[in-house]
Amino acid sequence: MSFKRKFFFPILLGFSIAAKPSISVAQEQSQEPVRDIEEIVEDLELYVMPDAGPFRPDQIEIKNKLAIGEWARSGHALSTAEAFTHWDEEGEVPVACATCHSGAGFRAFYGLDGSDAGTVEAPVPTGGVVDCDTCHNPGLAAVEEVKFPSGLMHPIAPGEASCLTCHQGRASGLNISASVADMALDDTNVDLRFINPHYAVAASTWLGGYGGSGYHYDGKDYSGRFFHARPVATCVSCHDPHSLEVSQNTCMSCHENGEPDSIRLSRVSYDGSGNLDQGLRTDVSHNAERLMGFIQDYAETVAGTAILYDGHQYPYFFADANNDGQIDVNDGRSVAYNAWTPRLLKAAYNWKFVTTDKGAFAHNPHYVLELLYDSSEDLLTALGMDIMDTGMMR
Ligand code: HEC
Ligand code: HEC
Ligand code: HEC
Ligand code: HEC
Ligand code: HEC
Repeated sequence: MSFKRKFFFPILLGFSIAAKPSISVAQEQSQEPVRDIEEIVEDLELYVMPDAGPFRPDQIEIKNKLAIGEWARSGHALSTAEAFTHWDEEGEVPVACATCHSGAGFRAFYGLDGSDAGTVEAPVPTGGVVDCDTCHNPGLAAVEEVKFPSGLMHPIAPGEASCLTCHQGRASGLNISASVADMALDDTNVDLRFINPHYAVAASTWLGGYGGSGYHYDGKDYSGRFFHARPVATCVSCHDPHSLEVSQNTCMSCHENGEPDSIRLSRVSYDGSGNLDQGLRTDVSHNAERLMGFIQDYAETVAGTAILYDGHQYPYFFADANNDGQIDVNDGRSVAYNAWTPRLLKAAYNWKFVTTDKGAFAHNPHYVLELLYDSSEDLLTALGMDIMDTGMMR
């Protein structure tokens, strides 16, 4: 402190002398001459921070740093992900995609940026992620329902709007019905194309038959929303909203075994293995594998062109007309599957719907088991087989 005083005093004096030469000044003035600039700079280098005050990084308070840290490591902040870089070449995210692929698009869709609600008016610049203001924008409190691809308007609880909007997929069973219209079930039709439910459709799985996002076969009933058990009421009951991770402790408070993969209550062996020790997740994945097998059998024997699935290439289902186990290539490009029948399209859609949701077994196990069963049963009918012989259960 003594240094500081010594340093400032002469400068102030020097100033007053220069500005007001005629006014008499204090005695000390003549004893301490005005210092030159070099001297001041020399002293400046010696300047030390005062003892008090926040000047160590670990002592500086950053508000919300826990949330920021967890979010920054999550998929929502992963700016290099395909889900955020897909449009980099075009330079903007089209209106049809922006709602779910950037915070700015999401705000535009709900009119939280001052625009009209219900649409994204213009393409959004690339480079956005699911930022804080996507979920924390105060205007979201006014959103009372979320529209699902089937047209369902689902009333929501506070805080749910964000997850339910983006994780609902882009298609519903109605798109399949409309596409196949009244075509004969097993006739191939060159106008049919694979319809992709889109990705990570957790909210649609969760709403089950009520959401109508899977393809529902005539005459069948489907489980509705999976209410699970209180207090598991919404997405963030299980997922941390920032890290997005599911904590085993959450499950442990009700399930003996907190490891999601091992959880099972059902005394029915859905996959026909008779193994009631495996987690229900295994039944779901076994039945999805079996359905894929039936899809391949049906394509080859009934539709007449073998089918191959490749999850890394759009539109995922490809032709293998010579049946050599390799995707056909034409002009250097993989040949999209081109022998769809209504029956095949329904089953392939449901298979993709169930398997794109990695948490389907927890989001709504009964609904997805029903979709897998009904799709298998339908294909087997055309193959002249009885689902009862597979041991699968609905
Ligand atoms: C209703 C919300 C929604 C809309 C609208 C939407 N998407 Fe997505 N999309 C998602 C979500 C959620 C994911 C993340 C899936 C995941 O976890 O990988 C995703 C993932 C993707 C991916 C990455 C897939 C991968 O394999 O990693 C691509 C590519 C994509 N979307 C393209 C599009 C395009 C193109 C449009 C517009 C025509 C679009 N999306 C519209 C929700 C949406
Ligand atoms: C995907 C949606 C989403 C995003 C993105 C998000 N949050 Fe949150 N955040 C939530 C939800 C939902 C809650 C309420 C959690 C609850 O009720 O348990 C929350 C709670 C919080 C809280 C209260 C304390 C806590 O940690 O629970 C803070 C602070 C917070 N968020 C800050 C942030 C910041 C800062 C960011 C950006 C770095 C961010 N959030 C991004 C959804 C989100
Ligand atoms: C604006 C759209 C949007 C909102 C809102 C949103 N998500 Fe996402 N979410 C995405 C996209 C896009 C991805 C894929 C990100 C990637 O591939 O890195 C994703 C990924 C995820 C993942 C997978 C994480 C991973 O590591 O791949 C989970 C789990 C998830 N979101 C849960 C939630 C929950 C829970 C909420 C609500 C609290 C929510 N999301 C809100 C768009 C959204
Ligand atoms: C009962 C607890 C529970 C609830 C409620 C729940 N989830 Fe999940 N979720 C899980 C589990 C368990 C997984 C699988 C995690 C794994 O395998 O790593 C999962 C997986 C996911 C994934 C895929 C993550 C990935 O790595 O690809 C997304 C996206 C997701 N959930 C979103 C949601 C959304 C959105 C909601 C609300 C509609 C929701 N979840 C509700 C337990 C839950
Ligand atoms: C509040 C208590 C509670 C919590 C917490 C809870 N569950 Fe459950 N869970 C239940 C109940 C009760 C059922 C049976 C619900 C039904 O079938 O209608 C169930 C059913 C399930 C099923 C279906 C099991 C079967 O064989 O039918 C799975 C899978 C599951 N829970 C996974 C999870 C996961 C993963 C978590 C943690 C992220 C979790 N649960 C957290 C109470 C809970």
